[in-house]
Amino acid sequence: MNEHLIGHSAAADGATHSPLAGRHVVVVGGTSGIGLAVAHSVARAGADVTLIGRDAQRLRHAADAIGGARQCVGDLHDPASFPALFNALPALDHLVITAGTASLKTLRESTPEELRRTLDERLVGPLSIVRAALERLRPTGSIVLTSGLLAERPIRTGAILAGAVAAVEAIVRSLALELAPIRVNAVSPGLVDTPLLDSFFGDAKNDALAGAAAALPTGRIGRPDDIAQAVNLLLTGGFITGEVLHVDGGGRLV
Ligand SMILES: NC(=O)c1ccc[n+]([C@@H]2O[C@H](COP(=O)([O-])OP(=O)(O)OC[C@H]3O[C@@H](n4cnc5c(N)ncnc54)[C@H](OP(=O)(O)O)[C@@H]3O)[C@@H](O)[C@H]2O)c1
Repeated sequence: MNEHLIGHSAAADGATHSPLAGRHVVVVGGTSGIGLAVAHSVARAGADVTLIGRDAQRLRHAADAIGGARQCVGDLHDPASFPALFNALPALDHLVITAGTASLKTLRESTPEELRRTLDERLVGPLSIVRAALERLRPTGSIVLTSGLLAERPIRTGAILAGAVAAVEAIVRSLALELAPIRVNAVSPGLVDTPLLDSFFGDAKNDALAGAAAALPTGRIGRPDDIAQAVNLLLTGGFITGEVLHVDGGGRLV
């Protein structure tokens, strides 16, 4: 565990009126894409933000980008490290886990080790983080996990990841009961333009995204801020628990 504090998130003008003002929000995966947008959004609302990711330099850049945040190095594939990490943090109000990659491969091509790695990343890692955070999470707080469109719209190379993210959706409904009054929800993004897609599509990205956008009812694919807005609703909606909020431009419908 490696913790630095580059100043607490400065409350933006008017942020003191936000229900997130002064709340401690931990974003696992807050160095990039959707997680970075979530971190930015809650920082603008006046939250005290902790970022968790694998790389100290990326954490520093992200903290700078959002105007300051606590930074902790942590890896979903090292669940044993999380109890010490959370014990060293101040009490939490909200935990958001967006961390993850997109390992898309057919079952035929996947080794048992690769299957296990996907399930570790999507299930064992996030659940271990939730477990480690529980001691520090206030009863008035909430947890947001990340699912994905694959849970409902299959693709040929997506069986393992689809199973893992569908499991996340089942898990939030059970955890909402087990962990009550802590609220537990998930956000399910459709296609969102983040660095994840750069590595996924490579040079074909622009064409692939243009094609995908044209097929969606919204006529565009998602932006990280679209998902951050939905996460914000889940964090602040005191009557929302056990919910999966789909933010996919209508991707489930076409
Ligand atoms: N973009 C989409 O179209 C889309 C659609 C559906 C679902 N999702 C899901 O949404 C989540 C966020 O995706 P994104 O598009 O924002 O991706 P991204 O830009 O690549 O960001 C991924 C984040 O996860 C962190 N991360 C990855 N592996 C990690 C590990 N083993 N331990 C700790 N942190 C780890 C990365 O941090 P470091 O690299 O700094 O460690 C980074 O902060 C992912 O779970 C993804 O599967 C994305």
